[in-house]
Amino acid sequence: MAATDLRGRDFITIMDFDREELETILETAFDLKRKFIRGEPHELLRGKTLFMFFYNRSLRTRNSFEAGMTQLGGHAHYLEPEAVYTPALPGEEKAYATERIADVARVLAEMGHGIAIRIYGKPTGWIYGKGRLIIQEFARWARIPVINMEDDVDHPCQALADIMTIMEKFGTDLRGKKFVMSWAYSGSVEKPLAVPQGAIMIASYFGMDITLAHPKGFDLDPNILNFVQKNVKKYGGSFKIVHDMDEAFKDADIVYPKSWTCQPTDGKTPLDVEKAKALFEANRHWITTVEKMKLTNDAIYMHCLPADRGMEVTDEVIDGPNSVIVEQAGNRLHAQKGLMALIM
Ligand code: CP
Repeated sequence: MAATDLRGRDFITIMDFDREELETILETAFDLKRKFIRGEPHELLRGKTLFMFFYNRSLRTRNSFEAGMTQLGGHAHYLEPEAVYTPALPGEEKAYATERIADVARVLAEMGHGIAIRIYGKPTGWIYGKGRLIIQEFARWARIPVINMEDDVDHPCQALADIMTIMEKFGTDLRGKKFVMSWAYSGSVEKPLAVPQGAIMIASYFGMDITLAHPKGFDLDPNILNFVQKNVKKYGGSFKIVHDMDEAFKDADIVYPKSWTCQPTDGKTPLDVEKAKALFEANRHWITTVEKMKLTNDAIYMHCLPADRGMEVTDEVIDGPNSVIVEQAGNRLHAQKGLMALIM
């Protein structure tokens, strides 16, 4: 393992980390997973507390952080922003309903060892980047690590679990593997860009041949695309964008088809829900079927969950032999334990 000291670091975006640091987190995650399977004690965070703010609902993220802190000998507090005083940016406070983030962050830092936040979509008025601003404000004031549990830009903890799952299937040398991040149809347009952006970013550290596939109008943030392009120059592999799902799936080793919305990324213009619905409906054929999977190189099927069955993917595929969705969700626990053990 690399001698990388991550103690005290925030984990807000994959972009803030280099390959060696990500490998250190992953190696720790694999080690803690082995200990979990063998029933060996690993209370590396005994007596420590993580405070978790969820502005959005969650099954996997909440339970993996809570269970992870318990297994590491600490404790996680679940905080509903509405049930405390909703943490607010300066100028957005409402008397006795909200509390300035500067105060919330500094007070919690007196009492515990980490703050984790999920915020995107509706609580931000669907303004791209607003969730990120809120998490950065926490990080500015808290003298303890701040963890992004998904904002409008990135879902870095999901990305760690994604690459961990890929490494379990293909080994740690991923050079030459074709990784396809594809858009998929959903009956809901309220889907942030965070998961596909996090997935292509983390894939770009490991020399894979990355194909991003989506119908026209579903572009990701240009800053993320530039970052991926620069990373493949630095670490090897390739990156291309196509607008045809069949073309993308051809000879793929890994397919990760999931829905995301057609959200402006200028940080000013909110999501136009009616326009998005029309664009989604025009692309109902972007569904992963057994026939599409036959185009691949016997690829593994990935999804961060929850999945919209019958829309994003057929039951036959998601419940089929190539689906790794349950291991992928389980790896949220191990990846985040590796992360927390190193930064908290
Ligand atoms: N993948 C994921 O973040 O799941 P939850 O929304 O259930 O936390």
